Amino acid sequence: MSSTAIVNIATLVTNDPSLGDSPLGLVRDAAVVMDGDRIVWTGGTSKAPATDNRVDAEGRAVIPGFVDSHSHLVFAGDRTEEFNARMSGRPYSAGGIRTTVAATRAASEAELEANLTRLLTEALRQGTTTLETKSGYGLTAEDEARALRLAARHTDEVTYLGAHIVAPEYADDPAGYVALVTGAMLDACAPHARWIDVFCEKGAFDGDQARAILTAGRAKGLHPRVHANQLSHGPGVQLAVELDAASADHCTHLTDPDVDALAGSRTVATLLPGAEFSTRAEWPDARRLIDAGVTVALSTDCNPGSSFTSSVPFCIALAVRDMGMTPDEALWSATAGGAAALRRTDIGRLTPGARADLVLLDAPSHVHLAYRPGVPLVGGVWRRGVRAL
Ligand code: NIG
Ligand code: FE
Repeated sequence: MSSTAIVNIATLVTNDPSLGDSPLGLVRDAAVVMDGDRIVWTGGTSKAPATDNRVDAEGRAVIPGFVDSHSHLVFAGDRTEEFNARMSGRPYSAGGIRTTVAATRAASEAELEANLTRLLTEALRQGTTTLETKSGYGLTAEDEARALRLAARHTDEVTYLGAHIVAPEYADDPAGYVALVTGAMLDACAPHARWIDVFCEKGAFDGDQARAILTAGRAKGLHPRVHANQLSHGPGVQLAVELDAASADHCTHLTDPDVDALAGSRTVATLLPGAEFSTRAEWPDARRLIDAGVTVALSTDCNPGSSFTSSVPFCIALAVRDMGMTPDEALWSATAGGAAALRRTDIGRLTPGARADLVLLDAPSHVHLAYRPGVPLVGGVWRRGVRAL
């Protein structure tokens, strides 16, 4: 094992609230030391201990690697035409998912893996060091299990989303599809996943179906998370809280009782502004959630339909500009918030003992992520203590 110090950091974001008044735990003129795959020391550059290697940050910022806690990267094909039609005024409907299901079923495993690794590389280049991803474009026991096996080769954060929509073969028998998702498909998928998710929405699965699916998954050792209240008001958020889901994702259409339920729970509200951007929908109200005391995460929802971006910095810029978040809040939500949405304490912070996942920005502070939208500011990435970029 060798140790590396990054020194002359103008702004170090540790996410250690004990280090000052900001939850970001900012240290100025800082250094961070990694040994093996862990952070072992943070503090002022002048006090940095001797290490095997030294990197000069030359007055730039270092932040924890982004934790993208919501993506859908196992798919084939693309939906450019659907996007084009939307930008000419057509509304988004979850029906487009069927197009991707057909393309994904028809693709070889090698094609799916090539697409997945291309998107993972894209995400890494934009500073993402942990990424959750889901099935949901197979919708047969074999195709869902194939997607999860593939995903599990690349990340520990794998989610079974057999309940994305009712599979086309079951259009006239949704109860039969729920029986499959909670039966043979779950048996085939559970060994490859950590999480179970349901798209709880009109046209997908209602509250009772979603409860049955998540409860069956829990009995097989999977932890719930929910696509909740994305396109309309509905029972998703309340159900997520009822089942102690790690996260209720989207949270675009919320009533006051929904907000209160989240505030009184451990369930994180994961906001996905790439989806509102790419579907021209109204923004989720991050300010309302944060002011109510809800823990908020910010992620990409990268998928070929509603949000084909792998860029957390882009989502940070949207959240700051249009969702009422400060630059500090948005960065916290995209790092520590994402970790909370995955119930992880080893990532999303740069404190001794945490995983050495960090990003060197070509900017003096993290505020530039929102201040300079669309500019590639990732100047270096370390993952588990190894320089990846
Ligand atoms: O999170 N809402 C459900 N699933 C995805 C969209 C999937 C698609 O359009 O292909 C989402 O936005
Ligand atoms: Fe999603």
